Amino acid sequence: MSELDELFSNNRAWAEKMTREDPEFFSRLTHQQSPAYLWVGCADSRVPANEIVGLLPGELFVHRNVANVVVHTDLNSISVIQFAVDVLRVRHIIVCGHYGCGGVLAALRDDRLGLVDNWLRHVQDVRDKHRDELKALNSIDDRHDRLCELNVIEQVLNVSQTTVVRDAWARGQSVSVNGLIYGLEDGLLQDLGIHINGVDDIPDAWKNSRAFRSGEHDATSSWPDSTAVVDPY
Ligand code: CO
Repeated sequence: MSELDELFSNNRAWAEKMTREDPEFFSRLTHQQSPAYLWVGCADSRVPANEIVGLLPGELFVHRNVANVVVHTDLNSISVIQFAVDVLRVRHIIVCGHYGCGGVLAALRDDRLGLVDNWLRHVQDVRDKHRDELKALNSIDDRHDRLCELNVIEQVLNVSQTTVVRDAWARGQSVSVNGLIYGLEDGLLQDLGIHINGVDDIPDAWKNSRAFRSGEHDATSSWPDSTAVVDPY
């Protein structure tokens, strides 16, 4: 119990501070939450969702897993998205990756970590889909950075392909799906240039996201070849 004592102590101090600053804060949240945003991020302890965007409890609905992956059939993430869109009616979905992601690095290098390898296989699918682009980069660090970005973009597209989001668009509900990436080194978020507000935005998503890396990559390239042969680096 002693190792948890500090947490209880911190919690009491935090609750007192919040109540001191806003006596109605907790009673208000008890009755309602109405966040405008759904955050899909990495479980990494260095990327605390609310803190890095300065939002209070009640303002951000959060789903986190290893390497911020949204798998088409993952009942967990899809249920979070459904609840956020249909019940809470969030207006913006943010997929936020981060540079230095250990899950992405393990996927890039084919590390064997155990059960999580099966989860990271989805990131390896992203790696293999973009094999040529990654191989063109010279260092493991550059490939790691780029795979962190590519993974966010692919997950934004996965969110956009869910029945939940497509049904919301079909009935005229306004929901944007956005890709951001966080820097552990400077604490700053960057916009990856991918903002999808409806199915019509999906075909141009790659082109727009590549503008983020303009000069380094061909901004006119279209959908990558998904039949690339696996070649671990
Ligand atoms: Co991570």
